Amino acid sequence: MSNITIRKLRIDDADNLVKYGDNLKIWNNMRDYFPNPYKLEDAIGFIEKVSTEQNNYPFAISKEDQLIGIAGYYIQGDIYKHSAEIGYWVGEPFWGKGYTTQAVKATIDHAFNQNDVKRLYASVFEFNKASGRVLEKLGFNFEGKGIKSVFKSGEYLDELRYSMLNPKYFPEG
Ligand SMILES: CC(C)(COP(=O)(O)OP(=O)(O)OC[C@H]1O[C@@H](n2cnc3c(N)ncnc32)[C@H](O)[C@@H]1OP(=O)(O)O)[C@@H](O)C(=O)NCCC(=O)NCCS
Repeated sequence: MSNITIRKLRIDDADNLVKYGDNLKIWNNMRDYFPNPYKLEDAIGFIEKVSTEQNNYPFAISKEDQLIGIAGYYIQGDIYKHSAEIGYWVGEPFWGKGYTTQAVKATIDHAFNQNDVKRLYASVFEFNKASGRVLEKLGFNFEGKGIKSVFKSGEYLDELRYSMLNPKYFPEG
């Protein structure tokens, strides 16, 4: 088993954010706040912004202390304040090795145990089979489909919603 961990972002992660994040195959599966091209100033701005945001828990997915991707969660507000949205990406050279699954598992543990989040959810473009598979492997439940809810690259896309309840609060799942 490899040594994948999650850790706080550092400003010296910016170079690897550019190295791995500047990739249309990643951008294609992300919301439009994720830039393409992904420049050094984008990376530095991202690290500075998310590191200070309340309710945002972004982590470097780290292999031998080097950033290879991002996993994190954002605790919602108002009547959704017990739910958090989880998100992630990993650099293309590292796909298919189980690294995201390990990193997202650690992120779930953090949300449920450090922040007492009651429900995690994730939104996946319908064509993104690898991401859906990561969530299913980890025990997320498929909730439903937002039909044509996404407008990305000039196209309307369906989005799949997955969720997982904190077993401490919802032992019945
Ligand atoms: C989605 C992504 C995070 C997956 O990362 P990863 O490190 O390759 O994931 P893992 O190796 O942990 O698991 C991937 C699983 O998907 C499966 N998979 C990959 N491509 C697939 C496909 N086209 N159809 C079905 N399953 C697929 C793999 O076989 C693996 O499942 P397995 O362990 O049962 O064999 C990565 O591809 C990525 O960063 N993509 C771009 C950004 C993105 O999509 N982020 C998520 C937005 S919701």
